[in-house]
Formats: sequence, structure tokens, C-alpha cells
Amino acid sequence: MATLTEKEPTRRDFLYIATGAVGAVGVASFAWPLISQMSPDKSVLAAGAPAEFDISKIAPGQVIVIKWRGAPYFIRYRTEKEIAAGKENDSKIVLDKHLGTDAARVKEFDKKAQAQWIVVAANCTHLGCVPTSNAGEYNGWYCPCHGSQYDNSGRVMRGPAPYNLGVPQYEFVSATKIRLFGEATKA
Ligand code: FES
Repeated sequence: MATLTEKEPTRRDFLYIATGAVGAVGVASFAWPLISQMSPDKSVLAAGAPAEFDISKIAPGQVIVIKWRGAPYFIRYRTEKEIAAGKENDSKIVLDKHLGTDAARVKEFDKKAQAQWIVVAANCTHLGCVPTSNAGEYNGWYCPCHGSQYDNSGRVMRGPAPYNLGVPQYEFVSATKIRLFGEATKA
């Protein structure tokens, strides 16, 4: 089973944001860019307290991974085309209707959140692999372990994964900073 530490990056626009916890598992061995200013203080992460992440360096179309409370999360900056595709998928959701609309996933915890930002847990809801970003039939996430496909707001479009990628509790502190304060919601 692929894990965060084993997976090789497959797309050039996929960045990994290293945190103190990630450093312990050898992120230096990857060729991914290090954007250290996005990392919250190590003591904050270790305590599992709410943490703020700078999203100002993320470009449209990019997906990054952050680590918080020991778990990886995707932050996706969607293009206008991707936002439109996400909305279009609202009528195609059949496997998991919890937070089933694109707008619900964007604004679940912060009504002022903008549609270009998607923040979701980075573990496949089948057996926990980290899916590949900007991949699959829906150009969202593709899980290489058993073939599950998610759209660009993290809704499962094809199993065996039973649930959408979880949306963590987060809010915008400013236009360029988000604060995570709670685990992903359950389906
Ligand atoms: S772990 Fe993702 S499809 Fe099985």
C-alpha cells in the first residue's frame, strides 16, 4: 500500500509542504520544493493545536499537501475551469451524498470561503492510500491502490472507496491564510 512516505510525485505541479513531523520521515529524500514559510511552528503541530497555513504561494491548478495532527491534507487552488467542472459534477454524485454539492464542500465551515479553494483529507476512504492529484477520469484525485476516483472537490466518483474525501474544519484567517481547527468530518 502506498503511503505518504513511499509515494513518488507524478506531476510537476504537485508540491509537498514539509512540516516538522514530515521531516522526521525523510522528506529531504524527495525532490519536492520546500516552502518552509508555510509551515506552522513545530511545537504547535506537535501539540495538535489549531494551526495556520500560508496559501499565498500556491498557483491556480496546483495541489499541495500539508500535514496536521499527524495526517496529510490536500489544499487545492482550482482554476475557473475546475470550479465549473466541480459544479457540473453535483448532479453525478451517487456514492456519498454527505457534503455532496461542490458549494457545501467549499463553505461547510466558513461561509466566506471562495470556490477556488478545496481542502480535504489526503487519505483515500477505502484503505487510506494517498491519492494522486490532478489525475483520473475527473482530473481530481486517483487512488493507485485499487482505482478509486475522486473529482476536484474530493467527491468519490468511482469506488471501491465508499466515501468522499473528508473536509477538515478550517476557516480563512485572511485571503492568504487558512486555519485548521478540527478533523475531517465523517460521511
Ligand atoms: S486505498 Fe484507495 S482505492 Fe483502495
